[in-house]
Amino acid sequence: MQKIKKDQFSNRSILSIDQFTPDSFNRVFNEASALINEHERGVIHHELNGKIVTLLFYEPSSRTFSSFSSAAKRMGAQTVEYQNPTTTSSYVKGETMEDTIRVFANYSDCIVMRHFTTGIVKKLSRMIDIPMINAGDGSGEHPTQALLDMFTLHRRFGRLHNLKGLIAGDLLYGRTVHSLIKGLGKYQGNTLYLLAPERLKLPPYVEKEIKKMKIKIEYIKDEKSIPKDCNFWYWTRVQKERFSDPEEYEKLKKSFVITPSLLKQKGNANMVIMHPLPRIGEIDIKIDKDPRALYLSTQVKNGMYVRMALLKLVLG
Ligand code: CP
Repeated sequence: MQKIKKDQFSNRSILSIDQFTPDSFNRVFNEASALINEHERGVIHHELNGKIVTLLFYEPSSRTFSSFSSAAKRMGAQTVEYQNPTTTSSYVKGETMEDTIRVFANYSDCIVMRHFTTGIVKKLSRMIDIPMINAGDGSGEHPTQALLDMFTLHRRFGRLHNLKGLIAGDLLYGRTVHSLIKGLGKYQGNTLYLLAPERLKLPPYVEKEIKKMKIKIEYIKDEKSIPKDCNFWYWTRVQKERFSDPEEYEKLKKSFVITPSLLKQKGNANMVIMHPLPRIGEIDIKIDKDPRALYLSTQVKNGMYVRMALLKLVLG
């Protein structure tokens, strides 16, 4: 996939973390940091006045949808918003995705799309001449989640190299994990420990891609093997919607849980705890008050600023 150079965001679709380089990550992160400072000073943005950002979400979403919606509005754009088009749009009458996207391109300056089919955003983006942003495609990728996760790590540790992290949960279907591992794989000296049930290990195609990268990956079998010196724990839910057998999901859903006792035994004072959310029980709510837990606060806020930055760069 063609890389985006740091000064080439204008009118580019954001489809995969593969498009980014350390320089283009920095461009987004510098812009997002500036927006945080400006927000704290009460600056109101007008850069995207007159622009229409369309949100087409074929899968449920709380964060990504509302984060993009507020990001667009905070930059001065207006939004056309569709959640559940499978029941509320002409999809119900049998309209193809190809026709829908070509129609919406007439109304919009940018389309942000979430869909249950891996690869569909990339495919549809080739049919229109406005940029598209992948807001999660099936079990494929979630590039803007990886951007906000990496921005969160960068703000906390001041770097994205020489980090040690634990990634736990559903590595097979978890698109945020695929994008995050590939993103961190672009920097020197990172080590990731992966903790997942055998059935939910990384898909072979992702393993193949990361083998070519700079990152060191090590599977661990159980919580006992978690090294104590991780910079971050990134926990994920088991993705119920990808299972055809509900019983199998029930067996796997609580495979690994962060509890106060696990954090005491295997955590350290300087680490952070992250989760893309939603969580469905894999982080004990007692952890929420811990200052190391970023998933309900810093991580979510950073998501809005990163999306403001991205929309500004793509549409500005
Ligand atoms: N992290 C994330 O993608 O959350 P939503 O599914 O609520 O958008």
